[in-house]
Amino acid sequence: MTPAALYCHGLCGLAMTSLRAKRGNPACQGVWISVHADNLINDVDKDYCENLMTNYFEHHVFFCLNQREDGSACCMDKGAGAAFDYMKAQVKKLKLNGKGKVRVNRAGCFDRCGEGPLLVIYPQAVWYAFVDNEDIDEIIESHLQNGKIVERLVVA
Ligand code: FES
Repeated sequence: MTPAALYCHGLCGLAMTSLRAKRGNPACQGVWISVHADNLINDVDKDYCENLMTNYFEHHVFFCLNQREDGSACCMDKGAGAAFDYMKAQVKKLKLNGKGKVRVNRAGCFDRCGEGPLLVIYPQAVWYAFVDNEDIDEIIESHLQNGKIVERLVVA
């Protein structure tokens, strides 16, 4: 399975959006984990990734959009799809999207299904559980625009 995204192991949270991106950055070979695999491949060059990070997205937002077919708890059954569409539209409307700014991506299961719907924002690696569009608006205004974590929505 091709991962939706690859991350440096939690030290810096740098995200790349394709395997091609990984291959295009030889310095990063072996330092990524997959959102689907959860397994650490190797240690990470923290300084390298922090430097690269500053030139890429200021905030990279990932929504779990996993749909379980067996009826067990999943983020899609709790409104993750609509929230994802809403945040993408709002980020675009506010002109926050683009290189050096904000990117909103879909992701697979984070393996915290009972706590969802969930999104996670890098590089801070802050996990949020949200309920409605008001929560999404608050995350955009507080976290993405003003760099202030919305403590009431944080999932530790
Ligand atoms: S379905 Fe969202 S964390 Fe598993």
